[in-house]
Amino acid sequence: MCGIVAYLGERQAYPILMKGLKRLEYRGYDSAGVAILDGEMLLYKVKGKVAELVASIGKKKTSGTVGMAHTRWATHGEPNEINAHPHYSPTHNLAIIHNGIIENYVALKKELLKRGYIFQSETDTEVLIHLIEDIKLNERVDLVNAVQIALKQVIGAYAIVVISKDDPDILVAARKSSPLVIGIGKKEFFVASDAAPIIEHTSDVVYLNDEEIAIIQKNKPLKIKTISDIERTPYIEKLELNLSKIEKSGFEHFMLKEIFEQPHSIRDSMRGRLKINEGIVALGGILDYEQKLINARRILIVACGTSWHAGLVGEYLIEELARIPVEVEYASEFRYRKPVINEEDVVIAISQSGETADTLAAIELAKSKGATIIGICNVVGSSIARATHAGSYTHAGPEIGVASTKAFTAQVTILVMLALRLAYKRGTLPMSQFYQLLNELDGIPEKVEKTLLLNDKIKKLAEIFKDSTNALYLGRGYNFPVALEGALKLKEISYIHAEGYPAAEMKHGPIALIDENMPVVVLATNKTIYDKVVTNIQEVKARKGIIIAIVNEGDKTIGEMADYSIEVPETEEIFTPLISTIPLQLFSYHMAVLRGCNVDQPRNLAKSVTVE
Ligand code: F6R
Repeated sequence: MCGIVAYLGERQAYPILMKGLKRLEYRGYDSAGVAILDGEMLLYKVKGKVAELVASIGKKKTSGTVGMAHTRWATHGEPNEINAHPHYSPTHNLAIIHNGIIENYVALKKELLKRGYIFQSETDTEVLIHLIEDIKLNERVDLVNAVQIALKQVIGAYAIVVISKDDPDILVAARKSSPLVIGIGKKEFFVASDAAPIIEHTSDVVYLNDEEIAIIQKNKPLKIKTISDIERTPYIEKLELNLSKIEKSGFEHFMLKEIFEQPHSIRDSMRGRLKINEGIVALGGILDYEQKLINARRILIVACGTSWHAGLVGEYLIEELARIPVEVEYASEFRYRKPVINEEDVVIAISQSGETADTLAAIELAKSKGATIIGICNVVGSSIARATHAGSYTHAGPEIGVASTKAFTAQVTILVMLALRLAYKRGTLPMSQFYQLLNELDGIPEKVEKTLLLNDKIKKLAEIFKDSTNALYLGRGYNFPVALEGALKLKEISYIHAEGYPAAEMKHGPIALIDENMPVVVLATNKTIYDKVVTNIQEVKARKGIIIAIVNEGDKTIGEMADYSIEVPETEEIFTPLISTIPLQLFSYHMAVLRGCNVDQPRNLAKSVTVE
């Protein structure tokens, strides 16, 4: 949520900043801005995307080797040029870019207003830079001290970079609960919200911890202090990311690329964990805490959005296979509803970005009550990965399309392996069945690959339904979370209202919505409750609803009953979400493209939700 990039070195900052900002645009894209030091402070900003910023700057002066840029997802104040970052201090000597929320900004602003300060924008960020300058001038301290003193007064989350016209050879960066990574090159430094803008310049990085300040100066080594002025030794890590992973590689959109990457990303999630020849499945990252899971009184899964849907699949899996009670919670509800948690509970936090503010807060709450926290994250080194006791990375590779696709199937893959491991350890599954499931799991990437061959057929289906205004997604058992996920995918990128429902719940209300204009996507790949799903389809048909059924290959019964059917490879019931979700991702994608929507950057959304 909001992308930050900054540069200090010997090269021209502007092209580096703009390229970096483009790579961060998935984090927010309602306005963008840049500030560069070159004797004077050059500051440009616009409402709109990075391309609009570049166009508006045109041939204006952009020279300078120190600068910073920002792409915004609005929290305080509507998206417009004034509210866009960077923000000036009152004298225009300082400027700031910020990701996060200063929760006590109203109180701080009131104080500053009393002292005669005038604000241009409605943002919390402008309050912070006013406060920093106020401290710098009135307490006669240097920039670093002023930032330290100001941040001690701040309640909330921040990742910031501050530059000063008077100190043109220094960048000051700081973070709390919002990610910030520093790239160390030869005689140059990069600061960014994540590694994407840094990777093409250097693989040596330092992740800032909460309440740390990086002091980045020309021709000097990187210095890190806390806001309480305790020196920290920078811990340099190597980035394991290559450029091709963050580029479209010939696909029209990142989302499509990521959908098509799933045979590989699922395989990568299983690599080194599913040892088919030895008949073993084990998640190395959680082995030290495995006993806690095996003996857990109950498992709580906390997550948001698509990750929450993966969590629901996890509930079905762990309860069925390992017989441990599981509850799945929206992190945002869990953290505020005074839940009962104790030391025998294990909390599994699921997050693609590893930065979701509510999930992070839920973890802190559960930790404070003594629970063991296991993370399932995609982004290595992310805040959630670091806040948990142990965890498993999904290894799906960078997910740049705002709508989550390959991260979901990777999360489900980890949960499948976890449930199988726990079942094995607890002796809740006959060994013959255990080995049979391992073999079937090993073949899932090939079945996903086969499912992706349906792309053209699904595109044709999207052409028929592209003008729909509503859609219902129905599923039972393991296909219920998939129905929720399918509906979320459709609404977030094509702006068509869609609801996911347990198929049998439909007659308790939503059935009233069904008429001849309502497409109803029915996930009908279940074997155990097949007849019940058939009945649910009849109920829709009796009310003239249009059935699009996702069925197993060769299923003639539902195939003939449905108006349109998509046949997917059959698998074990517990693995169905890994297959049945693929046609729904493709359907949403094509619907959105045909409706002219910006698939990778849907309106109002951002990739990692670092605000509450
Ligand atoms: C939907 C989507 C969101 C995220 C949610 C949680 O396509 O991407 O619903 O799943 O914001 O994000 P993470 O997984 O990063 O915690």
